[in-house]
Amino acid sequence: MLTAARNDLLTRVGPGSPMGDLLRRYWQPIGGASEFEKNPVKPIRLMGEDLVLYKDLSGTFGLVDRHCPHRRADMSYGWVEASGIRCSYHGWRYDETGACIDQPYEDTTNPKPSKSGCEIKAYPVRECAGLLWAYMGPLPAPELPVWEPFNWKNGFREIVLADVPCNWFQAQENSIDPVHFEWMHDNWSNRMKGDDRNAPKHLKLKFEEFEHGFTYKRVREGQSEEDKYWTIGRVALWPNGFYLGRHFEWRVPVDDENTLSVAWFFVRVPKGREPYVQNSVPTWKSPIRDADGRWITSHVINQDIVAWVGQGAIADRTKEHLRSSDIGITMMRNRFFEELEAIREGREPKGVIRDPGKARAVDLPDMARELNTEGITLAEFDDDPLLRQRLREFRHHYGQPPEVRAAFAEAMGIAAT
Ligand code: FES
Ligand SMILES: [Fe+2]
Repeated sequence: MLTAARNDLLTRVGPGSPMGDLLRRYWQPIGGASEFEKNPVKPIRLMGEDLVLYKDLSGTFGLVDRHCPHRRADMSYGWVEASGIRCSYHGWRYDETGACIDQPYEDTTNPKPSKSGCEIKAYPVRECAGLLWAYMGPLPAPELPVWEPFNWKNGFREIVLADVPCNWFQAQENSIDPVHFEWMHDNWSNRMKGDDRNAPKHLKLKFEEFEHGFTYKRVREGQSEEDKYWTIGRVALWPNGFYLGRHFEWRVPVDDENTLSVAWFFVRVPKGREPYVQNSVPTWKSPIRDADGRWITSHVINQDIVAWVGQGAIADRTKEHLRSSDIGITMMRNRFFEELEAIREGREPKGVIRDPGKARAVDLPDMARELNTEGITLAEFDDDPLLRQRLREFRHHYGQPPEVRAAFAEAMGIAAT
């Protein structure tokens, strides 16, 4: 249980908030580069700020204020040019650094036009693994960590976004909550199919911290301490991610009561289908409500979202009752309190990488590294329950577009369904 003041500290992310300040010290994934193949300008709200993300005609991405510095028109109705984005009201143009590079009437009539003071707020954007990353903190920006799976070859990757109407932190606490797999994903899924059997129980848990987050380890009925679920475990990725060995999830704050869920998936093609080169990583948006306005419950992350939003717009942690299953949650909260203190004292927070050599391939604990890098034959997919199911259907998010399914099937060498 937390005091209301400490709950506020963990959850509030708007400009000037301590947690917003901490999260801004890390590159945040904010979308997929492939989204911009069709429409090069997208309004986006992040950390309580209204912004516009664009790709100009030279291929450079920019993230700028939603409002034009001239007279505050909406930059998401601007258009992109060879360099930068132009406001549709009076034609002022800005580049990705925020510099104002055109003021058409002034440039025509004033022999010495001055654009100084007319800069638009702008944040650095980078592309990596098909994802777009923004850095909204104090400069100089740290290195963008290239997590090792981003360097894996011969894989089919896809990016799934969802707009989730609740605070980011209850989503992140779900990253260090092993027991919910048994109930929310296994037993509840069984019940929805009319099956009253229970999945193997959790018998033992362990939580450990490392430089880039926490691992949780588990033994369930039928498993032992020799199992990789105990020896390696899964990763609650610091500060707002989750890594499960074949996919990442991030919970990116939109504002105090909204979160952008960003998930990145990788499946290595079966042995014999290499080389597989994916030129563009498909990005799609997963709906989270059904036609009646109820939450969609059929897919794994949709089920998680039911838990997150069910806790309220901002979970009231003054009313909770933590037990031993929640030790990891307490560890994570305490780490956040310590890191808030660190930045208050001017120290670098946990896991920030300044060394470019180190950032190029950052290893994470991984239960399936060889499988993802060396590959297995299509027949061997049957030996891995998760992969076997992945071939049949995309069970993580509702609403995979048929063309993404078709491209996946083509990559894997299986029939599209
Ligand atoms: S308001 Fe944008 S150019 Fe005038
Ligand atoms: Fe889950």
